Amino acid sequence: MKKRPVVVVTRRLPDVVETRMRELFDTRLNLDDKPLSAAELADAAKVADVLVPTVTDEIDASVLAQAGPNLRLIANFGNGVDNIDVQAALSRGITVTNTPGVLTDDTADMTIALIMAVARRIPEGARMIPEDTWSGWSPTFMLGHRITGKRLGIVGMGRIGQALARRAKAFGLSIHYHNRRRVPPRIEEELEATYWESLDQMLARMDIVSVNCPHTPATYHLLSARRLKLMRPDAIIVNTARGEIIDETALARLLEAGALGGAGLDVFEQEPAVNPRLVKLARQGKVVLLPHMGSATHEGRVDMGEKVIVNIRTFMDGHRPPDRVLPSML
Ligand code: 8YV
Repeated sequence: MKKRPVVVVTRRLPDVVETRMRELFDTRLNLDDKPLSAAELADAAKVADVLVPTVTDEIDASVLAQAGPNLRLIANFGNGVDNIDVQAALSRGITVTNTPGVLTDDTADMTIALIMAVARRIPEGARMIPEDTWSGWSPTFMLGHRITGKRLGIVGMGRIGQALARRAKAFGLSIHYHNRRRVPPRIEEELEATYWESLDQMLARMDIVSVNCPHTPATYHLLSARRLKLMRPDAIIVNTARGEIIDETALARLLEAGALGGAGLDVFEQEPAVNPRLVKLARQGKVVLLPHMGSATHEGRVDMGEKVIVNIRTFMDGHRPPDRVLPSML
């Protein structure tokens, strides 16, 4: 009988996923779900044939340098692969896969939720009744801003950007986008989307800006202090992609100065730590902060696990896994 591959999973996954993995592989689970330290990750890489990390594991060049000769596949449980030094892995002959597609709708839904939460002040309002601070309705009470008819600028028109555009269109927003490459005309037509080659020009004209691109060296602080200042003083920015894409300190500064209308953030530069200035702004009702839950649905997590399993099985059977991460995607 063929030896079952040693698959090291760094965090707890849904029960059905873990059960299936144990049936198929020599699976080593992290039953207490404590994030692994760099040393523990290196130990995992030493014994694994396949490593299954998540966004909380930094698989950097130093971890990879300590990997054992058997480590041939890193099957990331997640779409974004900025937690992995993919170039270093590929140059060691280690294949990297991710889980695209199955968290598109959930993340797009959460982006819409954040836009509504900021524009209509939902978290602020939702606190009032439990905290017993509501003294009654009045014509000028808790006014937010209308969504219908506003301009939404999507930074990154991949799967999630497009899913967001479809939803936003139904809310009556006009769709604008900036992307490395212009999307095919049939998609632009379907979404009635306007392409902006210049991100700077788009930012200056939008009511709402949503960050939906991956974090790569090219997108680190793409929304820099200079670019954030181009935005209209009443504009809202939301981020369900990666914290590193926005210069968080510059964002906090602009919000404190009242030079931006608001922000809704699901991701942060130093997760799980959050810039205390943003936390203070959240307490004042000026921003909405969520703890990286854009794709956090039961269905999504099970689908992600299924993708990880399919990637491992096809790889082990000597085929190309469906979700290989290629250098051109970085
Ligand atoms: C996951 C994500 O929570 O897949 C991604 O890129 O950001 C999230 O949806 C996380 O990455 C799982 O590792």
